[in-house]
Amino acid sequence: MDKIIIEGGHNLKGVVRISGSKNAALPVLFSTLLTDDKCLIANVPDLKDIDATLELLEFFGKKVKRVKDTIEISGKIASVIAPYELIKRMRASFLVSGPLLARFKKARVALPGGCAIGVRPVDIHLEGFSKLGADVKVEKGYVVMDSRNLKPAYLHLRFPSVGATENMMMTASLIDGRTVIHNVAHEPEIVDLADFLSKLGVKIQGAGTDTVTVHGRNKLHGACHRVIPDRIETGTYLIAGAISGGNIVVDDCIPEDVKTVISKLICAGFKVKRENNSIHITGGRGNKIKPVNVTTETYPGFPTDLQAQWMALMCIADGRSVVRENIFENRFLHVGELQRFGAKLRIKGDSVIIEGKSKLSSAPVMVSDLRAGAALVLAGLVAEGKTVISRVYHLDRGYEHLEKKLQKLGAKIHRISD
Ligand code: EPZ
Repeated sequence: MDKIIIEGGHNLKGVVRISGSKNAALPVLFSTLLTDDKCLIANVPDLKDIDATLELLEFFGKKVKRVKDTIEISGKIASVIAPYELIKRMRASFLVSGPLLARFKKARVALPGGCAIGVRPVDIHLEGFSKLGADVKVEKGYVVMDSRNLKPAYLHLRFPSVGATENMMMTASLIDGRTVIHNVAHEPEIVDLADFLSKLGVKIQGAGTDTVTVHGRNKLHGACHRVIPDRIETGTYLIAGAISGGNIVVDDCIPEDVKTVISKLICAGFKVKRENNSIHITGGRGNKIKPVNVTTETYPGFPTDLQAQWMALMCIADGRSVVRENIFENRFLHVGELQRFGAKLRIKGDSVIIEGKSKLSSAPVMVSDLRAGAALVLAGLVAEGKTVISRVYHLDRGYEHLEKKLQKLGAKIHRISD
């Protein structure tokens, strides 16, 4: 098991290039199951979750070839069964259910189960599938769906679930006619998926708003697509610059996608300058970091995937702040680890009260989930001494070349294999 060692106290300086978005690439890659034609997907990051997705596509019969950051996917698919051994590795694998149901009018997909941050049910997905005409049963840990014919429908999601929105859009893409989905997620990853589905031949309106209309067709053709930059990686590096008193430029990103994070950083006293595809952040160490409260919301609110990273920054702010988690029920596993750095913070219901004014000192810590891991790396950048972070495989799921990118910015960080 690898470990990451960070020697804290070095200001970051320079330019970091943002990779393609994990959470945009996953649904786009799964959407290639909707056609047998060749698809070329560019700007795909080199991540464990992408590897797991490509293995799943090959399991279904796709030929997959990676040339640098471009993935070529082609070929017929055969299986309608997605086994638990494959699904349990990555929850997002449940996104195969929409394409399989749409292609074969039936599917047998293992329930993904929960993860460190919550139970993460899929009831909204299943309700949508049945509204589209599938007979949905759950038996022996599998979702078993069958339908003589799927039909266009009016759907209303009880919560704007990102994954459920993506599954409904993919399924409706192969249903001839007009499907309207209300109360959908607005995330940029949804807009990127809609962009790809349109290139496959689907007419889609309203992506990025409350209501998406999908004019599906019986057969779709192949397409080329370039995945959008990763807004969560963008926010993570902005906070890395902030916490280390640095002066960094985050390049190849979409500033609009992190506008809420930028405004929070400005409230905390940082100077943040937006160009059209880069963001320059300065400030920090010399001038005090103002405490700023955050409540996580669906897009365009403050992203739950940056909650842990923001909490790390607030540990060294000049006063008390409150971080409220509104999306997941158990996304505070990083609190105990931040306390090991000497930070003063405590959980109170769905919030964490951070006293701030902490002088962090290094400690051995353990990663519980992807974004909690990012928070520990950020704390390590500013903690006095050498921090040893274990279970870093969580980080490899979502941050491409993390150490290399931070080393290039002047961080004293390296990985050792146990
Ligand atoms: C996506 O997960 C992201 N993953 C998550 O990022 C992100 O945290 C989340 O959206 C929220 O923005 C990918 O895109 C691969 P949801 P998803 O369905 O689709 C509840 C990361 O770190 N819910 O919007 O699973 C659910 O329990 C990951 O990159 C139901 O109750 O999120 C949660 O409380 C972590 N029933 C809330 O909705 C359902 O059927 C949001 O979940 C579906 C969801």
